[in-house]
Amino acid sequence: MPREDCCSMLLALVARFLWLCSVAGLENGLARTPPLGWMPFERFRCVTDCVKFPRDCISESLFMRTADLLVSEGYSAVGYEYLIIDDCWMERQRHEITKELMPDRERFPRGLNFLSDYIHNKGLKFGLYHDIGERTCMHFGPGANGYYALDAKTFANWNVDYVKLDGCFIKNINLDIAYPAFGRELNKTGRPMVYSCSWPYYQKHPNYELIKKHCNLWRFADDIRDAFDSVGKTMYNYYKQQKNLTKHAGPGHWNDPDMLVLGNYRLSYDASRLQLAIWAIIAAPLIMTNDLQTVRPAIKTLLQNRAIIEVDQDPLGIPGRCVYIAGSFQIWVRPVMPFNNIGAHSYAVAFVNIGNYEPCPLCPQTYEVVLKRLGFENDLGYKVIVSISLAILKYTLHFYIQILFTQIFEDLFGSMEDLGLFKPKDKFITRVNPSGVTFFKFTSVDMY
Ligand SMILES: *[C@@H]1O[C@H](CO)[C@@H](O)[C@H](O)[C@H]1NC(C)=O
Ligand SMILES: *[C@@H]1O[C@H](CO)[C@@H](O)[C@H](O)[C@H]1NC(C)=O
Repeated sequence: MPREDCCSMLLALVARFLWLCSVAGLENGLARTPPLGWMPFERFRCVTDCVKFPRDCISESLFMRTADLLVSEGYSAVGYEYLIIDDCWMERQRHEITKELMPDRERFPRGLNFLSDYIHNKGLKFGLYHDIGERTCMHFGPGANGYYALDAKTFANWNVDYVKLDGCFIKNINLDIAYPAFGRELNKTGRPMVYSCSWPYYQKHPNYELIKKHCNLWRFADDIRDAFDSVGKTMYNYYKQQKNLTKHAGPGHWNDPDMLVLGNYRLSYDASRLQLAIWAIIAAPLIMTNDLQTVRPAIKTLLQNRAIIEVDQDPLGIPGRCVYIAGSFQIWVRPVMPFNNIGAHSYAVAFVNIGNYEPCPLCPQTYEVVLKRLGFENDLGYKVIVSISLAILKYTLHFYIQILFTQIFEDLFGSMEDLGLFKPKDKFITRVNPSGVTFFKFTSVDMY
């Protein structure tokens, strides 16, 4: 191996090691990759009238039906695992004597151990909502304040695997003390439970250094709604904070931009692709909120796209970021596996057309990007070979150091782009639908 390449490899390894050192956080062995699952809130809200709305009410039958469909429709086979009950499951008061939380006795007549067993018998995991304050966010049931140890024990007795802990009604409660305290009670039960915190969302200046030591994931943005502007707003929110957010996420602790809303009413096919691609780029939990019985086949195919899920679940756990933003156009990049034989990793790249710009906001737009602007620099020139299904691009990557690097282009949604031949200063050209995305993986192959 030439001396220069050897140095390059060493530098790459050192850079990776330093990066890994900077993200030590909660280590309960869970959420080594972002959790995948289902949660009812955005779709089913707080419907409690099971007489008028038997299909939509928050009840035992909704969760049993969804558990069945997660398995029979193939979602569990691609990784969707956590079935999580959100707000509005409780009786409105604690048990008079024991002070334990209780599930609503009409909507969960057989109790939560029954439901938890049902979910576990399907090979799935069971998640449950709670609140750190006085009441839950829908002002429905009692919050955990004053009962951390008891509630953690109750959750463990129900064989809960994942706790979503909201942060409403927190007058006189210091979240920087309360969230770690509840986490310690979870730990004391001895039952491993993913700890999903809403902690930073309720603070002006979150201390992520502290948060990542106590939570497996944390909400940093508003509740998502079933609309493209809500997805776009969440993306922009991440972009504004990405320097802080990317620094603290990694295996065991993740940024949570809230649920995947695709499969409902308001996202177009293109916007559905966009949400999925960006959630994968930023290493987000993929928690669906939809009626699995009525998800359109094309959207179901998206939700089960293994190439996209593989990007989301990438074992390096490096969250991506928006590296370029101009007008309607955004480029999001995430370093992913595999490394080639001289230590250069691969990339997932999403080209986004937010679709709000002149001259034609609602048209597909052709974008030309000088690859240098993605952080790819090449003194030797680019050589692109297009085969039937793969385009091979050879260039030098300038990423702290220069490494000779060869990559394969592959559109992750399955269609191929013919890239042709181009030189260092040449542009990468892609045509993107409004409120849409094109999504590629650049796989580094070995130097020869
Ligand atoms: C409790 O915390 C310790 C120390 O961080 C950790 O090793 C252990 O896995 C945790 N146990 C549970 C059940 O979370
Ligand atoms: C990033 O974190 C630093 C240090 O905690 C804080 O001062 C700064 O305001 C944060 N930036 C954003 C955009 O939140």
